[in-house]
Amino acid sequence: MAITRDLFHDPVLATEIVAFLVKKPGTYVDGTLGGGGHSLAMLRALFDAGFLDASLLIGIDQDEEALREAGEKLKGYEARVALVKGNFVDIGGIVTRVCSEKGLEPKVTGILLDLGVSSFQIDTAERGFSYMREGPLDMRMDSSASLTASDIVNGYEERELAKLFYIYGEEPRSRSIARAIVAYRQKQGSVGSTQELADIIRGNAHGGERVIKTLSRVFQALRIEVNAELDVLRQALYDGIDCLDEHGRMAVITYHSLEDRIVKRFFAEKARSDWGPKGVGLREPLAWGTVLPVTRKPLVATQQEIAANSRARSAKLRVIEKICQGGCHG
Ligand SMILES: C[S@@+](CC[C@H](N)C(=O)[O-])C[C@H]1O[C@@H](n2cnc3c(N)ncnc32)[C@H](O)[C@@H]1O
Repeated sequence: MAITRDLFHDPVLATEIVAFLVKKPGTYVDGTLGGGGHSLAMLRALFDAGFLDASLLIGIDQDEEALREAGEKLKGYEARVALVKGNFVDIGGIVTRVCSEKGLEPKVTGILLDLGVSSFQIDTAERGFSYMREGPLDMRMDSSASLTASDIVNGYEERELAKLFYIYGEEPRSRSIARAIVAYRQKQGSVGSTQELADIIRGNAHGGERVIKTLSRVFQALRIEVNAELDVLRQALYDGIDCLDEHGRMAVITYHSLEDRIVKRFFAEKARSDWGPKGVGLREPLAWGTVLPVTRKPLVATQQEIAANSRARSAKLRVIEKICQGGCHG
């Protein structure tokens, strides 16, 4: 399918990302390449600062279409860019492999994760991400993955569905929606499309604005499950920090409370030194914290950016910097 560029909206908080991450020449990783908007902003900033010739940007996405679009957008920078189809959960292995192919040390200066789905994915009906568009119950960011939303909606037991909508969707009516889905399956054989599912949900939600919220929550829960989003995030934060060089930075943009909570807690835990049991009075901690928070509170978009790009409305940006008491690597 031909992709038109404006289906990938402007990158969120791009000025802030550049200001926090691009400080010197080095290897940068955009773990959620999407349409390449953030990558392009970082490459331009590296060029403007005179750092580009000594830098490399590794762009990762699990979606082939995103990689194709980003490849177009980043034309002209090919010599300083490596695009990889993969999951950012494999950031460690990807960095090691690409850096070794380029004869570079696998030490990263900046990592960006701009989580979730792109506007292009949401707006493409055939991908099945949107309750506003008729499409298959798919929701895979990586179209070669095996689990689809249909497998879940039509295969999970009522109890599993209710748990999923409650935990990943924080949906208060999780049980009655799960019950309605299973009743529909028994009557009709299966739930065939995004619109069939949306109609079942509408029939079991409170009216008005709350219907929209319920639809978003249930679709969010399914998307998280299909793509194992929270599990891969935890692991990628862990391995990403491992890849960072001393004073290297990691920036993460989240769009809902479940992922933001994971990032917030993980960064706080990594920043904390271990002083052992209370009252021992150690002079030095048993283990130093390995990161410093660069943003004390999450940064949000300005009203001006939100007016221009509604996707920025729920964005929260958190940034840490790696510190290495006693050495970063070994
Ligand atoms: C919000 S969009 C990124 C938009 C991008 N920053 C830009 O400027 O165009 C998120 C992208 O990350 C990808 N993605 C999400 N989770 C991923 C994962 N675990 N591994 C690799 N790519 C992922 C999605 O396929 C999507 O293209």
